[in-house]
Amino acid sequence: MEEPARPVRYSQTTITELMIPSYANFGGKIHGGTLLSLMDKVAYATASKHAGSYCVTVTVDKVEFLQPVEVGELVSLHASVNYVGRTSLVVGIRVESQNVKTGKIKHTNSSFFTMVAKGDDDKPAIVPKLILECKEDVKRFIEAMQMKEIRNSIREKMDDAKSHIEVERAQEILKNERCLLEMK
Ligand SMILES: CC(C)(COP(=O)(O)OP(=O)(O)OC[C@H]1O[C@@H](n2cnc3c(N)ncnc32)[C@H](O)[C@@H]1OP(=O)(O)O)[C@@H](O)C(=O)NCCC(=O)NCCS
Repeated sequence: MEEPARPVRYSQTTITELMIPSYANFGGKIHGGTLLSLMDKVAYATASKHAGSYCVTVTVDKVEFLQPVEVGELVSLHASVNYVGRTSLVVGIRVESQNVKTGKIKHTNSSFFTMVAKGDDDKPAIVPKLILECKEDVKRFIEAMQMKEIRNSIREKMDDAKSHIEVERAQEILKNERCLLEMK
């Protein structure tokens, strides 16, 4: 039996973590991979709360690190379910980093994780409908629908482009690119 619809606020989740020295790269800034791992964690927590079941990550959209994160900062990841399909959910995540001394908060990135709920049989499971209680909820739901359409159309175009790559014309196609053709 399908579970009852749930409002966005039911599953909204925030994770805050202190950026310790072992998270840093050789340049002293926090690894992008550390942030991605935290984002995956908060996406899982949010999606599984809404779905009431185990979820897996399928696609990640818009990963851009806009500003570096420093050791000693407090990173907060705010996540909410923006969209639900039949068995999939889109979780929007806003990442902010706070300097504890100055209190200054910077927005480091926003991303969208598509998750799929799984049943005990490991097959995709139907997720509860999403109750949209304010204009922001409606805006995010429609935005996610549009992103899904754009992603599908890009995938089709990429598949089509891949099947038409003319390696024989490489000399001409690559003449202004920063590569050297040394094919045997
Ligand atoms: C995601 C997965 C469950 C899809 O399985 P499937 O047999 O293709 O299932 P379906 O075709 O029924 O699709 C299920 C849902 O996933 C969505 N989906 C499938 N592939 C997708 C993709 N590449 N991007 C976005 N959504 C996708 C479908 O649109 C569908 O959503 P809907 O029910 O809301 O319409 C399966 O590919 C899987 O288990 N992948 C591994 C995920 C994983 O382990 N992630 C952890 C990272 S290692």
